Amino acid sequence: MNPDVVINLAYLVSCVSFIFGLKMLQSPLTARKGNAISAAGMLLAAFATSMNREALPYLWSFLIFLAGGSLIGIFAAKRVKMTAMPEMVALLHGFGGLASMLVGWSIYHATPDLSLFTSIDVFLSIFIGGVTFTGSMVAWAKLSEKLPGRPLVFSWQKFFNLSLIALVIVLGVFYCTDPKESYFLLLWVILGSLFLGVTMIIPIGGADMPVVISLLNSYSGLAACTVGLVLENNLLIVSGALVGANGVILSSIMCKAMNRSLAHILFSGFSSSDIQGQKQQMGEIKTMTPQDAYFVLEAAKSVVIVPGYGLAVAQAQHLVRELEERLEENGAEVQFAIHPVAGRMPGHMNVLLAEANVPYDRLIEMEDINRTMSNVDVCMVIGANDVVNTSARDDAKSPVYGMPIIEVDRAKHVFVLKRSMSTGFAGIENPLFYKENTTMIFGDAKETLQAIIAEF
Ligand code: TAP
Repeated sequence: MNPDVVINLAYLVSCVSFIFGLKMLQSPLTARKGNAISAAGMLLAAFATSMNREALPYLWSFLIFLAGGSLIGIFAAKRVKMTAMPEMVALLHGFGGLASMLVGWSIYHATPDLSLFTSIDVFLSIFIGGVTFTGSMVAWAKLSEKLPGRPLVFSWQKFFNLSLIALVIVLGVFYCTDPKESYFLLLWVILGSLFLGVTMIIPIGGADMPVVISLLNSYSGLAACTVGLVLENNLLIVSGALVGANGVILSSIMCKAMNRSLAHILFSGFSSSDIQGQKQQMGEIKTMTPQDAYFVLEAAKSVVIVPGYGLAVAQAQHLVRELEERLEENGAEVQFAIHPVAGRMPGHMNVLLAEANVPYDRLIEMEDINRTMSNVDVCMVIGANDVVNTSARDDAKSPVYGMPIIEVDRAKHVFVLKRSMSTGFAGIENPLFYKENTTMIFGDAKETLQAIIAEF
């Protein structure tokens, strides 16, 4: 059989495995299998590519890079902490962008007669790949606190960024009209794109970071797609389009979850001056020991647990499960309220609770739980802050105003388990802590939960 036919058949199988894999990621029950199926599809695709007539003589280098890349991947996946997953994802997007940029650049050198179509594709893969690479590196540095997580702004920033985008596009247009004679323009496009990635992402910060991550996800897919077009590689086109579309859908879900438009996030930022004006006296707080909390929980007939990033930091997911069992044995109905941007990555809380075998039907989405919140006896906020910040609902001056929250303050009693009065990721004060029906239980979530469970 013609080797090209075999390769294309293998690509087809890979594409189908990606689509099924993606579909299976929809539920924690099938996600692991979906991931494995997609990974197998990718391995098949890599082998099929290495069987290409032009690539076959370099099979040895393919095997070395496959082994090296796999080892690094396994090492990184084993070492990375659950809480550092978003940084890892940002890094992976960045590498995707870098690969697309380098492939686009190398195609320029490898193609003797660049058609207009190929030149445009080379420009696009370098432009989108370059922005994705440095943008993702800035996102990684912000999430891992190597750079301040707050927005870094300078005057005329919007004007500067829009002018830079226009300049890179104009350079690209001139390059495409005469690619062989205007290599220096392509080099300026590379520099401009890399610089743009930095200047576009540094003004974004605070609670807007989740959207940036999913947007970079879609950029990395688009970059791969343009490389696929220039290489005439159907698999890259399909998988790039899947990743690109995925990222766009996720970004729009995130925007909706935060009630912000994409344009607002990209160009208006999460104003740091707004955050600075936040520190103000909000009243007195009430505190309680885990032992006293037990008496209230023991009498409760319905309990809602709101997990947040702090639960992942404390690694207290198994204890939460244990508490759920104790409460249920005691006759209470227990539900988990999941905010779409709780934690530091999409689905963070779902993954965390699935790890502790919390039944999936106990996880209730924000809108549904809010409807029944006034009937809840005790709402336990464990390591969450921004997603229960009542100023998002009540204070029109708040930078998070309009972002939907889990309305825990409507429950009869609210317990907030955290270590101190410090703010969450968005860096803003939370009036919830000062409400009449709220009680703070200070301490590491793991220790507090252990103490409550011991009372049961
Ligand atoms: P946050 O607002 O970040 O609050 C987490 C809270 O956990 C902190 O206030 C912290 O208070 C507490 N905490 C930390 N370690 C703890 C421990 N060991 N024991 C007990 N408490 C602990 O979390 P959230 O409510 O989940 O909101 C998520 C935020 O991250 C949102 O602003 C969201 O936009 C942003 N974000 C989300 C994503 C995605 S996609 N989900 C990605 C990037 C950013 P103490 O220090 O006082 O303990």
